[in-house]
Amino acid sequence: MEVAFQQCMDPDCRSTFGVEEVHVNCPACSKKGKSSLLDIAYDWSRLPVPKSLNFFEHRWSTKGAGIQGALDFSGVWRFRELMPFYRKESDIVTIGEGRTCMQNAVLLAPQIGLNKDRLFLQYEGLNPSGSFKDNGMAAAFTHARMVGAKRVACASTGNTSASLAMFASLSETTGIVFIGSGKIAYGKLSQALDYGAKTLQIQGDFDACLRRVRQIAVEQPGLGIYLMNSVNPFRLEGQKTIMYRVMEAMDWEVPDWIVVPGGNLGNCSAFGKAFAELKEFGLIDRVPRLAVIQAAGANPLHVLVNERGMKWNGGRVDYDTMKAYYREQDASDTGGHAHTIASAIEIGRPVNLAKALRAIDVMNGIVRQVDDETILEHKALVGRFGFGCEPASAASVAGAHMLIKEGVINKDDRVVCILTGHELKDPDATVKYHTGIDMKSVQETAKRTRPNGRLANLPIPVPDDLDAIIAAIAPDAAAAMGNKKAGVDPLRHVPISEY
Ligand code: F0G
Repeated sequence: MEVAFQQCMDPDCRSTFGVEEVHVNCPACSKKGKSSLLDIAYDWSRLPVPKSLNFFEHRWSTKGAGIQGALDFSGVWRFRELMPFYRKESDIVTIGEGRTCMQNAVLLAPQIGLNKDRLFLQYEGLNPSGSFKDNGMAAAFTHARMVGAKRVACASTGNTSASLAMFASLSETTGIVFIGSGKIAYGKLSQALDYGAKTLQIQGDFDACLRRVRQIAVEQPGLGIYLMNSVNPFRLEGQKTIMYRVMEAMDWEVPDWIVVPGGNLGNCSAFGKAFAELKEFGLIDRVPRLAVIQAAGANPLHVLVNERGMKWNGGRVDYDTMKAYYREQDASDTGGHAHTIASAIEIGRPVNLAKALRAIDVMNGIVRQVDDETILEHKALVGRFGFGCEPASAASVAGAHMLIKEGVINKDDRVVCILTGHELKDPDATVKYHTGIDMKSVQETAKRTRPNGRLANLPIPVPDDLDAIIAAIAPDAAAAMGNKKAGVDPLRHVPISEY
């Protein structure tokens, strides 16, 4: 067997697949009508695992424009021995991601009831595209290069699309992003357009976009779409490194708590895997506790864990409970749609649910929900006493505050909150909080002209319809498939407020 492989996470299946294969879930389970996620697994006994974590530190001083310099400069690939799925170093894609910092937030700590020196903010907004997504994209684009993918796509609430678009343009791949109409913050939309991604503005929410892009990746192999969402297990390998950097900043001491916002639940899943592996290697002697914080309007993990008792259960996850809840949601007033000011985490059907349950198991984790007002108040607190962050990121600080008030987090515990996205991702939210001016509604009445910049890249409005989406992605392919809707006019007028 190879030293690195893909493996089904279902304990009754555990099928393995080569790293050169491309799957969006386990093909063996699919045949039985089940949908199971894959993990990247390694035969560590045949790999050179470092004997201590400070092995990685010397890399800060590597110099030069050569491959060694580029890999050691990256805050992801600096830890490449802990994610060795690539065949050769020349496969590796890096844009200088992961050079983020951890701030000891001495001024903010007492504001949320922690002792001074006990609150740490991990600023993932300092990544090149302004969010933590670059960690995972570096790994997924490396895999895409290994398999020769030419077209990469994702559904997104904004940050994945910004990151994908940046990596795609820098690695000369065609980037295609599916965003929900009116669902993503302007800072993020502007990035996807500027980096030149084909931006499909689907009439639907994130969950609808993800369903479509998965469907197209699986059912339309002729389009050659490589899926970049966090169902792609390679993404999560890159996101493990956020935890390595947290540990490094703490001089390799394990904190008491990792607090992270939860949307599609890729990040918390990656954190669980990172700590499970470090423990297995004997590189750490204990695992921190995990708190996943959701927005009250987008809270499926909270409901399923805290109200319906869902657990990892050794991998035998009770999907019937999940399905029953989703059916209830569909029949409710919300029609199953999530809604929160923290648009990045406005997700009703997180695809990584099972992996998140595993992370909660590994890290003795808990889940909480916080309402929008509380999120915005904590965003303002982070802005006032830190570098700032976008609304979804502030859910972590709001959640930590709640857990301190509950007495679950002790005021002397060392708490790391992950600030997942940069403040400038969503300036509208900040301006509205401080001035009451709703820039989004102002934009509705703004004058609109036909853009005439040489590189102008208009988003393409598309209904939530398979044929129309295929026509928008690849008009030639759609025409060849005899699709009557081929050739959707990308310049068709759309009110700007719909973005
Ligand atoms: N914070 C920010 C700023 C995000 O953009 C996201 C996810 C999350 C938290 C949640 O992370 O999905 O791993 O639980 N954004 C995705 C996107 C969904 O499309 O940009 P998760």
